[in-house]
Amino acid sequence: KDISIIGVPMDLGQERRGVDMGPSAIRYAGVTERLEALGYNIEDLGDIAIAPRNTRAKQSSGDEHLKNLDEVAEANNKLADAISQVIEKKRFPLIFGGDHSIAIGTLAGVTKPYKNLGVIWYDAHGDLNTAETSPSGNIHGMPLAVSLGLGHPSLTGIGGDQPKVKPENIVIIGARSLDKGERELIKEKNIRVYTMHEIDQFGMTKVMNDAINYLKEKTDGVHLSLDLDGLDPSDAPGVGTPVLGGISYRESHLAMEMLSEADILTSAEFVEVNPILDDKNRTADVAVALMGSLFGEKLC
Ligand code: ARG
Ligand code: MN
Ligand code: MN
Ligand code: MN
Repeated sequence: KDISIIGVPMDLGQERRGVDMGPSAIRYAGVTERLEALGYNIEDLGDIAIAPRNTRAKQSSGDEHLKNLDEVAEANNKLADAISQVIEKKRFPLIFGGDHSIAIGTLAGVTKPYKNLGVIWYDAHGDLNTAETSPSGNIHGMPLAVSLGLGHPSLTGIGGDQPKVKPENIVIIGARSLDKGERELIKEKNIRVYTMHEIDQFGMTKVMNDAINYLKEKTDGVHLSLDLDGLDPSDAPGVGTPVLGGISYRESHLAMEMLSEADILTSAEFVEVNPILDDKNRTADVAVALMGSLFGEKLC
């Protein structure tokens, strides 16, 4: 039971400042102590170095359709390497963002050993855009598409040119804001999505049971990519792209407890915590509380 923490203080995948302070906020919320109390050996590897915004002499090769492309690619290359090393040491990679563009590097690193990785994408959004379909040009809306092999080669090529994840190994949970191109891709690739409609109608217990059974048999490892905006903004206000009508704090704890019980995860990341937009670090506190449940915390 060994966990290695990597922080990725990246805000270049979107336009609001502050999400680069996410890793500090999560550490400040006491994550190491919380997980140590559960009996884990925790190693904090510190933060990946991120290029500062708008200070480079040369313009990034991405345009307004792929903002800060070079810097985002560079950070994700470093992250992918750092994660491979963690897995080689047989430790569990636990990644703190930063905006969701860091999932590009996480998935590139994690899929080095896991060739049939399952992915649970806990998010209000699909993050399935490409430069062509993105309404914003923000790369944090693209990482899942990149991991399917769709997008700019300097992103899809991180960790090798092969697609990192198969569409049938992906489960999206909590979706309530999908762009037109994302909806088309979900249809075309037949990606499993549990929107808020399914969570409301069937409840989180059934959704998680379904998701776990769907992934369990056919994958050799499962990564949890948890965007705090998957939760309702009333429970997780410190996020850059909040969407009303999200997953509750209680439902999220249940989801984490069910994942813990199923014992299928081989890596996890918590992203989009923005302390500048937050209310007294509440969103980082929520992230750490959810990690407690994910790693087996029980009252009795
Ligand atoms: N779909 C929108 C876009 O492409 C929002 C993406 C939000 N993504 C996130 N990781 N918070 O710009
Ligand atoms: Mn243009
Ligand atoms: Mn999101
Ligand atoms: Mn996201």
